[in-house]
Amino acid sequence: MSDDSRKRDKDSIQNVLLVALSICFVCAIVVSGAAVLLKPQQTINKALDRNKNILIAAGLFEKGVTPESEIGSLFEEFEIRVVDLEQGRMLTPAEVETAGINPVSYDQRSAAKDTSASKALSTTADIASIKRRARYSVVYLLRENNQLSRIVLPVHGYGLWSTLYGFIALEGNGSTVSGITFYEQQETAGLGGEVDNPAWKALWRGKEIYDENHQVALKVLKGSVDRNSPNARFQVDGLSGATLTSRGVQNLVGYWLGEDAFGPMLARLGG
Ligand SMILES: Cc1cc2nc3c(=O)[nH]c(=O)nc-3n(C[C@H](O)[C@H](O)[C@H](O)COP(=O)(O)O)c2cc1C
Repeated sequence: MSDDSRKRDKDSIQNVLLVALSICFVCAIVVSGAAVLLKPQQTINKALDRNKNILIAAGLFEKGVTPESEIGSLFEEFEIRVVDLEQGRMLTPAEVETAGINPVSYDQRSAAKDTSASKALSTTADIASIKRRARYSVVYLLRENNQLSRIVLPVHGYGLWSTLYGFIALEGNGSTVSGITFYEQQETAGLGGEVDNPAWKALWRGKEIYDENHQVALKVLKGSVDRNSPNARFQVDGLSGATLTSRGVQNLVGYWLGEDAFGPMLARLGG
């Protein structure tokens, strides 16, 4: 065979396709192999990040100050409880077992998608725009000298572009905010993304959720709170240029701390 015809052979469509397909095949194996191998580590990291956010909301972890290596031991201080949102109360360990829930691995997001483990929300009830909510939720309790000092609740709801997932921590009275965090959201960085700004989150500390009738009174304002207003204790400054995300946060707090979610359980705590 002449040099010319050998070169023509190498450049044939079949050859080009074979090389391209071989490269695709090898790359697919490498990518899917890496995804499978890294999955357990990703699950561990996700749980670690969730635990860190619970600690941040409860005021036990300060980014850049508390060593990450302490997350595990600090998190062990929490008692993990399951709340039946239909009954508005925490379940006893025996009831949790009967319900077949493992509080450590319970996945509320998956449960919310399962029609047998969740309920559809009516348009009027669904102020957080989440469509469905799971019957059970896990909450995290912290005690000091046998007294409840913090209760950390998972919350989520729609902002402008995305669903925001986070935690709100209340003091032992079940009504005063001790912290809030968002660990997953896709709002615009510098606008709605400021929900994760420590300076804004600090404004929540000490705010009151409920009025005298145990209705959610907390509002995220458009603009700043008038510190002299009698309602200032129920109000948080809005994020500038991000009124819609701010309203989303107000709505998700309103839903999750309201009658249809944690409100009745918190009322039992005295909040
Ligand atoms: C590119 C772009 C990104 C935006 N991202 C957000 C956002 O993440 N959250 C939000 O509330 N508003 C965002 N806005 C602004 C909203 O469209 C809307 O104007 C604003 O929420 C109204 O709030 P204001 O009255 O404080 O300006 C964005 C606007 C633009 C042009």
